[in-house]
Amino acid sequence: MRAPLPTPLVTVEVADTLRRGVPAVLVASGGDEARLGPGAERVVDADDVSGRAGATSRQGRDRVVGVGDGAPGDWRKAGAALVRALDADAAKGATTYDVLLPDDVAGEAVAAFTLGIALGGYRFKVTGEEPPKRVKSLRLVTAAPGVADVVRKATTLAAATSLSRDLANTPSNVKDPAWLAAAAVKAAKAVPGLRVEVRDEKWLAEQRFGGVLAVGGGSARPPRFIELTWPGTGDGGPHLVLVGKGITFDTGGISVKPADGMHLMRTDMSGGAAVIAALIGVARQSLPVRVTGLVPAAENHVSGSAYRPGDVITHYGGTTTEVTNTDAEGRLVLADALAYAVRNLRPDVLVDVATLTGAMKVTLGLRTGGLFATDDDLAARVAEAGARVGESWWRMPLLADLVEDVRSDIADVRQCPPGPGGITAALFLREFAGDVPWAHLDIAGPARADKVYDEVVAGATGFAARTLIELAETYAATPTNTIG
Ligand code: BES
Ligand code: MN
Ligand code: ZN
Repeated sequence: MRAPLPTPLVTVEVADTLRRGVPAVLVASGGDEARLGPGAERVVDADDVSGRAGATSRQGRDRVVGVGDGAPGDWRKAGAALVRALDADAAKGATTYDVLLPDDVAGEAVAAFTLGIALGGYRFKVTGEEPPKRVKSLRLVTAAPGVADVVRKATTLAAATSLSRDLANTPSNVKDPAWLAAAAVKAAKAVPGLRVEVRDEKWLAEQRFGGVLAVGGGSARPPRFIELTWPGTGDGGPHLVLVGKGITFDTGGISVKPADGMHLMRTDMSGGAAVIAALIGVARQSLPVRVTGLVPAAENHVSGSAYRPGDVITHYGGTTTEVTNTDAEGRLVLADALAYAVRNLRPDVLVDVATLTGAMKVTLGLRTGGLFATDDDLAARVAEAGARVGESWWRMPLLADLVEDVRSDIADVRQCPPGPGGITAALFLREFAGDVPWAHLDIAGPARADKVYDEVVAGATGFAARTLIELAETYAATPTNTIG
């Protein structure tokens, strides 16, 4: 099989003059009553022009794209729709365009537009055939100040989303825990100052990572523990530890999943992918904040060596769990990693991200992540960071009346009590976060898309990678509690 990494992104350049002989893209705003930006005189058929976000029309060799009201979300949608339209006739059209932007275009608009352009044409296909011709680069032409920096950062965010998508889309016959670890090492090697350590099943046994070993025990492909370290710059700054679920395939184990939809569980390491991609994005931007990424990686499989419902397992650090359903494997591997972080890494902030529960997918649908937090400042930072990079989060409660349900008669904690599944899973994880301000991001819904919308295409979405990078940046700017 061809090495599918990494999918090339459309390049976004910045200049203040047009290139001779290169077709142009004009921008129209304002809905059906379109208002054209610079270059309006090039339009040959004004009737075809719409200012609706994402509408496109051909004007000779040129194009017009609508940006609606000009909100960042409109620009993101417009960038994505534009590259899809340009890709659709790249076979006979051009592979580069000059995009004429107003000189007073806002930074947030340029950032969102760049994200849309870079990600909207994303494709993942394993094939022996030649890939089709696609648009390669778009040059933003504007005299607005600071645009190059905005584009650079947006490109880093887009690359993180794209890497995360590539990792999650890779099929599980290729992607086992060792493959995921090797992919992390390979991607991190390209970034100066970013360290990666990969621990194998022998180390996990010595260190008593009972959750990872139980979940990974049914597979012929042994688990791994991936640790990425960005030491920060200067005195390091606050220490943010990110933990991502790295289940490279989830059969459900002995509590096996129904056949319908099981194939989608190749993306059950999307949280881990977001963490790997976020560390790369943080290091690329050389942020003055210390960030550690932990990815417990395992394949949840069915075999004679698989763990069973009714087992009691001992996590890293000694807490015991009564297993009631081997399909609730994510929380078991995360528990080990959270305990490891609390014991060894002295985090100031702890965030885990996981495709954890089908219940959360039912609760919030496919476009919004569930956000649980023990700290209001952290919760606000996550939600606001997400809003700035086009990922939406909704705060969920850690309900006090359900806390007793995670207690077990035969162990310290019970893995899956009855009741609202997303919340009880979060309450289980909280047991392992110690006193550290902690957030849990359940991305079971938005980690996958079933159709194209905005900058998203069907398949793995890379959701959360951008939020995590932007979150780290908030600690670089304002390290102390400012809210709550
Ligand atoms: N990986 C699944 C959750 C999931 C479901 C993610 C659908 C994306 C789409 C997780 O490991 C799981 O199986 N959770 C169970 C928990 C239950 C057994 C308590 C679930 O949600 O059904
Ligand atoms: Mn499962
Ligand atoms: Zn799972």
